[in-house]
Amino acid sequence: MLIFAHRGASAIAPENTLLSIQTAIDSNVDGIEIDIFEIDGQLLVIHDRWLERTTSGSGLLTQHSFADLRQLDAGKGQKIPTLDEVLAIMPKHCLLNIELKGINNIELLLQCIDQGVLKYNITTKQLLLSSFNHHQLYAITQQRPELAIGALTASLPLTYATFATALNAYSVHISIDTISKDFVLDAHQRGLQVYVYTVDRLEDIYLLTSLGVDGIFANNPKQARLYMDNI
Ligand code: G3P
Ligand code: CA
Repeated sequence: MLIFAHRGASAIAPENTLLSIQTAIDSNVDGIEIDIFEIDGQLLVIHDRWLERTTSGSGLLTQHSFADLRQLDAGKGQKIPTLDEVLAIMPKHCLLNIELKGINNIELLLQCIDQGVLKYNITTKQLLLSSFNHHQLYAITQQRPELAIGALTASLPLTYATFATALNAYSVHISIDTISKDFVLDAHQRGLQVYVYTVDRLEDIYLLTSLGVDGIFANNPKQARLYMDNI
């Protein structure tokens, strides 16, 4: 089972910061998961639409300028990083799951990825793009079928196979609250990887191992690895 550090090693360092991402990389995680928003034509790594929970700012993220947001403290003196800054520190052996939260312009994202691949020692094969907004994923896969798509779903809809096929998805990302053995078997028969969020407890890791899921999103990837190694 692959381990993705959920918002970086967010149990150890402030979520979605370069510190949490580097902490996860240092613990030899298989992949990193981050959330991105588009602000003033720039891509920022942050989860919430509102600033209070994770930064020194307040109010609606989209009502601030990029320059103002970059002045904020995202915890332990960290700035809200840009996607480009994350691409710059990604080692070649580590996967990066970019979850689109508030993106208006798919072109901007594709441009940032293409430039990152040219500038840094990374490849598109490391990247996995996911979103609850399947229309955006569809637009991406139409333009760039070589990019891996992760179809995110909180529930277990009857239509999951339909959208996974339409998106040419590599993986389905599903909540631990709705996972089942039948779902894993069905997804595997369709050639889909099954990644489950958010998983930090030993009991859940034990369950998901027995179900044969392919990956988990963990806030504490180092602890998850220890649990897994001792099963
Ligand atoms: O990508 C899995 C998970 O991160 C989706 O939920 O709210 O943590 O972004 P959320
Ligand atoms: Ca996420």
